[in-house]
Amino acid sequence: MSKTLVAYFSASGVTARAAKEIADAVGADLYEIRPAEPYSQADLNWMDKKSRSTVEMNDPACRPAIAGAVEHMEQYDTVFVGFPVWWYVEPRIVDTFLESYDFSGKTLIPFATSGGSGISKAEKSLEAHCPKADWKRGGLVNRGAAAWAKSALGM
Ligand SMILES: Cc1cc2nc3c(=O)[nH]c(=O)nc-3n(C[C@H](O)[C@H](O)[C@H](O)COP(=O)(O)O)c2cc1C
Repeated sequence: MSKTLVAYFSASGVTARAAKEIADAVGADLYEIRPAEPYSQADLNWMDKKSRSTVEMNDPACRPAIAGAVEHMEQYDTVFVGFPVWWYVEPRIVDTFLESYDFSGKTLIPFATSGGSGISKAEKSLEAHCPKADWKRGGLVNRGAAAWAKSALGM
């Protein structure tokens, strides 16, 4: 039987809610990409040039560490990858996630929440970080996450 995973990073809970909606709607397992060092409010201040998020996003090679891991990634053939848009792309910790597993032959479907930016720049960046996966079109799920996920899977 084909198995689906919803893996997500969420700094302030918005993407987490969408991820849970998606997992419930499509009957998938849920995995939180949890930073080894949690982000504080100050870390998330995009107005501050010296905040942790700004420093990380200014460095394309930055790979924040993840606490824990997905058990038996090999059992999943489809993985939704969710995140908040940060500076028009995915947070660097999502790149850490993509580089931590062998996704060749798996279907990956990105989704994001944002303050208004679209997901297309992030989609290009994700594909560049994980070219061996079969990437499907992503969704901006500030609302309607469940319905979007079902249609993404043809349900
Ligand atoms: C460091 C940082 C950078 C952000 N950059 C963008 C952006 O480029 N475009 C946008 O629309 N929203 C941006 N946002 C807003 C988040 O994408 C939005 O609030 C998201 O829903 C938060 O999801 P979360 O609660 O799962 O972390 C940014 C937020 C942070 C903390």
